[in-house]
Amino acid sequence: MLTPLLPIILQAGPFTLRPFADHDVPSIMEAAHDPLIPLITTVPVPCDEAAALAFITRQHERLSLGTGWSLAIAEGDAPAIGQIGLWPGKRETASLGYWVLPSARGRSVAATALAALSRFGLGQFARLELYVEPWNTASWRSAERVGYQREGLMRSFQDIGGERKDLYLYSLLPGEVVG
Ligand SMILES: CC(C)(COP(=O)(O)OP(=O)(O)OC[C@H]1O[C@@H](n2cnc3c(N)ncnc32)[C@H](O)[C@@H]1OP(=O)(O)O)[C@@H](O)C(=O)NCCC(=O)NCCS
Repeated sequence: MLTPLLPIILQAGPFTLRPFADHDVPSIMEAAHDPLIPLITTVPVPCDEAAALAFITRQHERLSLGTGWSLAIAEGDAPAIGQIGLWPGKRETASLGYWVLPSARGRSVAATALAALSRFGLGQFARLELYVEPWNTASWRSAERVGYQREGLMRSFQDIGGERKDLYLYSLLPGEVVG
């Protein structure tokens, strides 16, 4: 049975985590040019305006389908500079994922957004998880800055770009969010 989720808007330092909107189309089109983002998300390649709008519609459907919260990371009323998602799993757990546009990197956007969504997530779930490729230092440093702890290496855990990849498993429990 489908259990729809309620929409949320969260403040994350100077950023707002909000539902995607039509004025985020240029952001989705920019994200489609990143070498990794389309491999780990449903950002389409190639991405024209229609494809970007379809991506935005899919993010809204995640709520009605109960599959999770997919939020744009934005500053004020400006278009999105990134995305962060919280995906319910089994046994009162949920996993998170995120990306930041190349033009907005280097300002701890992911860690700031992750801290806010993790606080919300720990109000709903007993354990939060993240999966990160070992080479992706910017991602796992962002996670560690928030308090996520590395539990180990999941061997050949996921297909990314047509290859089985090892992924670090990170987790966060209630009371562990830093700051
Ligand atoms: C991962 C990602 C979201 C981080 O973006 P960001 O919030 O702008 O991160 P920053 O550039 O501020 O870097 C975060 C930390 O990593 C460090 N870092 C960044 N690039 C690094 C590199 N190449 N080598 C080592 N450290 C690096 C920064 O110094 C910073 O460290 P600090 O927290 O100790 O100050 C962004 O790189 C991205 O979108 N990548 C593609 C998608 C992706 O990888 N998503 C996550 C999948 S698990």
